[in-house]
Amino acid sequence: MAQASNGPGEPPAADELSRAGLRLEVDGHTARITISRPERRNAMTGRTWTTLAHIGQTLPEDVRIVVIAGEGDIFSAGIDLAMFTPEGVDGERSLVAGVLDGSADADDIEGHIAELQEGFLWLRRPDIVSIAAVRGHAIGAGFQLALSCDIRILAEDAKFTMKEPALGLVPDLTGTKPLVDIVGVHRAVEICLTARRVEAAEARELGLAELVVPVEELDGAVDDVVAALLATNPEAATATKALLQQAAGNTLQEQALAERRAQVDRLTSLAKAMGAGA
Ligand code: ACO
Repeated sequence: MAQASNGPGEPPAADELSRAGLRLEVDGHTARITISRPERRNAMTGRTWTTLAHIGQTLPEDVRIVVIAGEGDIFSAGIDLAMFTPEGVDGERSLVAGVLDGSADADDIEGHIAELQEGFLWLRRPDIVSIAAVRGHAIGAGFQLALSCDIRILAEDAKFTMKEPALGLVPDLTGTKPLVDIVGVHRAVEICLTARRVEAAEARELGLAELVVPVEELDGAVDDVVAALLATNPEAATATKALLQQAAGNTLQEQALAERRAQVDRLTSLAKAMGAGA
């Protein structure tokens, strides 16, 4: 597995991003990540996900919004299918070579998948809002990457497919929980086990898209949502996202307590700021 080319705390260097098929632009409070392997329909490799994790670990503190999009007219064709060949991709660890030659046991493979999942998990961090801007196909890992984001804004040509079961696999890049949270277990079973396409209009009906817009309006729609998100108080936004994230796992009484505690923190901070300004 390729190591980060910079020391700890440094964002990925241009060559690491390029080998991972990613572009990163940070402008003030907004980071824009583009999956950029157009010749492979933006298919992603293990390096894409370890580099995504590296981006998350080294994001400047004042970044509040992360937008993920695909280069051109497709979000992502999912995992690079060469990852399932013994040769793998461009010197990267193959997902099957260790099994075939007996050099990797279950713990090794689980550990490797855990590293890859890190590229998806950080998008839930309460201090950022992550947005997937989706054009065209988001297949398999691409669908799971969109599911890892807080908000999905789709162009009318967007389509989601959970292809893994059709290939003999399970979706293992942290997508099953948000999918079930959003559409319920019955619809999730139907979508995954048929591996069918969910087009943008249906995605909106199912709650898999917060917004669906004509293709030419996608960038503008994303910019509008970013501007609205940036207009809120950053600390209140972080505390509110943390509160919302725990709601489903809490009883009403637990959630009411969590709200009270979070509000005490907010009021304390606001009062201190008023005192400091007086
Ligand atoms: N991995 C590696 N290469 C890919 C992938 C992929 N996932 N998807 C497309 N490519 C390559 C093709 O092999 C082709 O390469 P070539 O020009 O050397 O022949 C090139 O990208 C263009 O692909 P086309 O199929 O010609 O593009 P088209 O626009 O007709 O179709 C589509 C796009 C629908 C995305 C199709 O390529 C496809 O179904 N890809 C495979 C999707 C898939 O099964 N992904 C894995 C899901 S499971 C998971 O992600 C864990």
